[in-house]
Amino acid sequence: MANPMRLMRRTMCQLMRQNFAKSCEEKLNDQLNMELKACHQYLAMAYHFDRADMSAPGVHNFLLQASREEREHAETIMKYMNKRGGLIKLSAVPEPTPTSAFEDALAALRLALQMELEVNQHLLDLHAVAGKENDPNLCDFIEANFLQEQVDGQKVLADYISQLERAQSDLGVYLFDKYIAVSNADGMHGKK
Ligand SMILES: [Fe+2]
Ligand SMILES: [Fe+2]
Repeated sequence: MANPMRLMRRTMCQLMRQNFAKSCEEKLNDQLNMELKACHQYLAMAYHFDRADMSAPGVHNFLLQASREEREHAETIMKYMNKRGGLIKLSAVPEPTPTSAFEDALAALRLALQMELEVNQHLLDLHAVAGKENDPNLCDFIEANFLQEQVDGQKVLADYISQLERAQSDLGVYLFDKYIAVSNADGMHGKK
């Protein structure tokens, strides 16, 4: 038998819910799961570069910080979902792309940029759904917390890819690792 107090609390979530369309809730849950997928992918990449045969501490820390940021993004969405009276739905996190796809730092950063562009496209789609459903609060949430940060991060990755393309020698890659360690101590998206 359902607990009456719990039922009352659930009703409270429905009572506080206002102008929050099902389509927005679903798309927000998809976004949340994309952030967790990115968190998992960055984690796999980070520890690939921590291996003794890779030994690139700068790249390792950069990717580890990126993984943490993705988890923060997921939690930001979860907090927001509860504020809107929605229901958080976590799905299984897919297996990351195998390490054979990012053997060196250049391949890893190219993969990261491709992933960020996909995440950004989904954010833009989410914003479009929020606009169509006339949900200014959700539009504002996406703009304030995600859109600028995404393009800032994508620029950082594109810059690094250009620099690594220029530095394609063992010494160049070694120097790049020293550079990335100091140039992005606050992570891809900078200090908040
Ligand atoms: Fe993210
Ligand atoms: Fe990201």
